[in-house]
Amino acid sequence: MSKEKLAVQTYNNYIGGEWVPSKSGKTFDNINPADTRELIGHFQDSTAEDVNMAVAAAKEAANSWRLTPAPRRAEILFKAGQLLLERKEAYSREMTREMGKVLKETRGDVQEAVDMAFYMGGEGRRLYGQTTPAEMPNKFAMSIRQPVGICAMITPWNFPMAIPSWKLMAALVCGNTSVIKPATYTPLSSVNLVKTLEDAGLPKGVVNLVTGGGREAGEPLMKHNDVRLISFTGSVGVGRIVSETAAPAFKHCHLEMGGKNVILVLDDANVDLAVEGAIWGGFGTTGQRCTAASRVVVHKKVYKEFIEKFAARARTLKVGNGLDDSVEMGPSCNEGQMNTVLNYIDIGKNEDKATLVAGGNRLTGEDHKYGYFVEPTIFGDVDAKMRVAQEEIFGPVVSVIPCDSLEHAIEIGNGVEFGLSAAIYTQDVNRAFVAMRDMYTGIFYVNSSTIGAEVHLPFGGTKNTGNGHREAGTAALELFSEWKSIYVDYSGKLQKAQIDDWQG
Ligand code: UN1
Repeated sequence: MSKEKLAVQTYNNYIGGEWVPSKSGKTFDNINPADTRELIGHFQDSTAEDVNMAVAAAKEAANSWRLTPAPRRAEILFKAGQLLLERKEAYSREMTREMGKVLKETRGDVQEAVDMAFYMGGEGRRLYGQTTPAEMPNKFAMSIRQPVGICAMITPWNFPMAIPSWKLMAALVCGNTSVIKPATYTPLSSVNLVKTLEDAGLPKGVVNLVTGGGREAGEPLMKHNDVRLISFTGSVGVGRIVSETAAPAFKHCHLEMGGKNVILVLDDANVDLAVEGAIWGGFGTTGQRCTAASRVVVHKKVYKEFIEKFAARARTLKVGNGLDDSVEMGPSCNEGQMNTVLNYIDIGKNEDKATLVAGGNRLTGEDHKYGYFVEPTIFGDVDAKMRVAQEEIFGPVVSVIPCDSLEHAIEIGNGVEFGLSAAIYTQDVNRAFVAMRDMYTGIFYVNSSTIGAEVHLPFGGTKNTGNGHREAGTAALELFSEWKSIYVDYSGKLQKAQIDDWQG
């Protein structure tokens, strides 16, 4: 058991500025995936009753929050960013316990929330619209942003604080009120984020949090008549349900789903750098990033060198409890996810086209037997159409696929149902630009891995990765605000657009 034991607490929902238990009084347990004997806490198993109260609180707070000047709303975000920085270490350790990823990465996750708080805080003094000429004399035209209304947020377990912050900070600065339902595997990080917003002075009801299952709490939240916007990050399967749930009432719906991201390694690449990129992209966060590099397409001239170095490095990765500073890769976040990963490893092993070159097993030794640990796994000589090279695995499994040319690499790279992130390793600026243009993804990297998006640029992807929206950056403002076009006629007479002749 980890030495640093957390006192086991019961964590409540946050509704209308109060921390309250669920109406049913039921709770669920949050356990450490690196050591399942360790209980992190009990969390509210909420139902429609709790959700209804949370939405009612968001509704009650909506008008005064909408009317709070955006620079004042932003001051609360700045304060929250500062408090998060002060609490960074404690929150990171709690996140490693509940999610499993290593401490360096949970510190990065909290830092991403800090960055987003400061970035969106800055938007409080921008939130730009346009002023533009009107087509008639003595008439003024402009567009301004207005809040959408009550936002429902359904967030995943892989970035337990960063992703909630992407949604909440943007929604807040735009003047919306929200109800967030975090993943059941990592509710503590959302509790910590919401607590920080409360401590920063956020008025009651502006943000509300209910924990619980997707069917029991998530569904009634999405279906609630007063909810106008649903922002979801998770799997394609659930994304489809979210989309169908949002459609009948024409709710705004933002979906951020899977990836099957690729690193292209050309024959002129710095191979050692590409290997480090593949290790970081493939096994960082145990492969549980939407942006994880689960395919590496390598030119056959450098294929042998690449795969030998890649496999050798993967075999040395230290897997274990993320609170140990020397550990480089943590467990799968939960048992179901580990089983999915092991199942894909079996699928890869059973295909005669691929060769297992590293890993391939669950780790069950003394240091690992109480956790959901899987070895960093690499398949070589993979055919691009194989299931392991097509489907999102969300685990430490990388398929290496040989290619003949830049064009061939791009064709393989684009040949999946997803389009989140891609990367190229080359020293040739011309080839880098061709790939930048032709890879149909939402994010692209040159001589860097597929992960590591910064908060001030749009985040999201093409094809089945999303539904055309982006979060982060100013793109998030498009999600969380609606345009209002305003015409002010100060001519004192009836002027008719498109009808009146302009006489000069
Ligand atoms: C995710 O993969 O789910 O770009 C989010 C990155 C992080 C965010 C990832 N900043 O890898």
